[in-house]
Amino acid sequence: MDMATEMISRVGIVGAGQMGAGIAEVCARAGVDVLVAEATRELAAAGRARILRSLDRGVSSGKLTEREREQAAWRLRFTDDLADFADRQLVVEAVVEDVAVKTAVFARLDEVIDDPVAVLASNTSSIPIMTLAAATAHPDRVIGLHFFNPVPVLPLVELVTTSDTAESISERAESFAHDVLGKQVVRSGDRSGFVVNALLVPYLLSGIRMVESGFATAADIDKAMVLGCAHPMGPLKLADLVGLDTVKAIAETMYDEFAEPLYLPPPLLVQMVDDGHCGKKSGEGFYRYDEASAS
Ligand code: 3HC
Repeated sequence: MDMATEMISRVGIVGAGQMGAGIAEVCARAGVDVLVAEATRELAAAGRARILRSLDRGVSSGKLTEREREQAAWRLRFTDDLADFADRQLVVEAVVEDVAVKTAVFARLDEVIDDPVAVLASNTSSIPIMTLAAATAHPDRVIGLHFFNPVPVLPLVELVTTSDTAESISERAESFAHDVLGKQVVRSGDRSGFVVNALLVPYLLSGIRMVESGFATAADIDKAMVLGCAHPMGPLKLADLVGLDTVKAIAETMYDEFAEPLYLPPPLLVQMVDDGHCGKKSGEGFYRYDEASAS
């Protein structure tokens, strides 16, 4: 077996927020050794607590046994130093949706990782992968692996390649997502928003504009899409779930790339984010959430 086809068993996740924690959890549940990096020990502890709560939820809903929860928890380790990622075969970066922060992470990962066929993946929602690849000396190893929230529930991963991504790297990443994590993979070209957010974000922003204009209430818009189109949740509740700060950041990146007015964040969204109302994770967005459901 050559190195590129060797099964990935050591993964690194950068960022233990909503998405990073979810990705770390599915990797640990799939039997992989997972090292999670956060900027500080406090953030790492919060990330660990978030994953353990979700594993507990898996046990209480009958999806995991106590033993599986223990084994998954045991496979998770945390660090505040990316230098500890030297032996990782695949890294998924899931830090804040900010180009400067993400490019700094990629430059550092490229320096510390020893494996010449390591996959350097980003979970970015909207930043072109080429921008991140350009921060490294090995753009052939850089790829997008975009997961969906809640990661343990939603089966999709978008696999985003650039003109520089080596086919062996994309095959390795696809096989990990499909064969190890059990996800369904779609391939997307390297364009801001990829497939899902290019369609989803204008829809979410249109829902926000409807609330802003007083045309209908958030509750009625959501009810309409759940009952009229069989969506699992309406656009305002979904925007709260994704995080209003994240929706705003994705919209801004997409607007920067396409100058399409539909992608421009509506003033109501900007104002809510400025006021710290970022949706479910902050306890308030278009709806209010108690502390237990927000975490
Ligand atoms: N972790 C683990 N399991 C979870 C979970 C979580 N965070 N949240 C829900 N679940 C499980 C529950 O245990 C339950 O499992 P069961 O049916 O086997 O008992 C199942 O999911 C359904 O959960 P609930 O009964 O609590 O609630 P709902 O039926 O209302 O479903 C939902 C909740 C799964 C969030 C569903 O409403 C849904 O799928 N909503 C749409 C989410 C969506 O569109 N996500 C994509 C966002 S876009 C994105 O992430 C990309 C980014 O770039 C922006």
